[in-house]
Amino acid sequence: MQRVEEAYAKINLYLDVTGKRPDGYHELKSVMQTVSLSDTVTVSAKLADYSCITVEMPGSDIPADERNLAYLAAEAFLEETGISAAVSVTVEKRIPDRAGLGGGSADCAATLRALNHLFAFPLSQSALLSLAARLGSDVPFCLLGGTRLCTGRGEQMKEYPMEDAFFVVALPEGEKMKTPEAYALLDDAFENYENEQSELHDALFSFFEEDGIDGMYNVFESVVLPACEGASSLRSRLLSLGARGAMMTGSGTAVFGVFDSEDAARYAADDIEGAIVCKSVPAYSL
Ligand code: C5P
Repeated sequence: MQRVEEAYAKINLYLDVTGKRPDGYHELKSVMQTVSLSDTVTVSAKLADYSCITVEMPGSDIPADERNLAYLAAEAFLEETGISAAVSVTVEKRIPDRAGLGGGSADCAATLRALNHLFAFPLSQSALLSLAARLGSDVPFCLLGGTRLCTGRGEQMKEYPMEDAFFVVALPEGEKMKTPEAYALLDDAFENYENEQSELHDALFSFFEEDGIDGMYNVFESVVLPACEGASSLRSRLLSLGARGAMMTGSGTAVFGVFDSEDAARYAADDIEGAIVCKSVPAYSL
């Protein structure tokens, strides 16, 4: 049996770090949005005496072994359900990696969705969400998709009302950022996250609640953009090409612009090499 799932990229419309936790992770306040840039994840599964998992990512240099989040998702699913099966996952990769677009988390979540469907829903939505949270901070959001306010490590979610929007995603050449490195830069810059600046961020957040996209904010911009000239100039370029707002997503280094119409987004994208036009995608039906 086989199931094909689209694994949509995410962008952060709002991202603030409000504290550091004793376990080393950070407390977040984040509004995430799934967008129509996706990997295609095909999962085949067959009951077997012994479990065996293979992952393939044709044309990608991301390791397709036990370190791959799709592999870890299949492994965790089989362990949690006690199912013994031969599982093979093929990922047609389109979401750029180390860009803040949640590609690995999206593949991970898509593998969980596919396996739960293939085996006739052995896990409830809440069991699937806890499994997702163990696999990575963005995986619960990527499991559900749509627009959500995510707090805690990212696993506490509330659906968020958001108008449909068009986006242009642009990638600076040669500038990549690993998430733990971006958090380390932030820790160096903010001795204490619960400082005056956080109050300012809270004010911006309430602004965002009333005014949607006009209140976009990403705390990582302050530490990542000074070191990433390409990302910085793409952000300005998007604004000069008519974006309502432009910002880096997640810990970077991809940036996106928000546009009111597909035509406006295409006009801007035509002027930026490799730019991707996408639109907001609603929640998955689980
Ligand atoms: O949870 P995930 O494995 O995706 O996180 C990758 C890295 O990002 C963690 O190892 C940690 O350094 C950082 N992180 C964090 N706080 C979060 C989410 C991620 O410190 N809420």
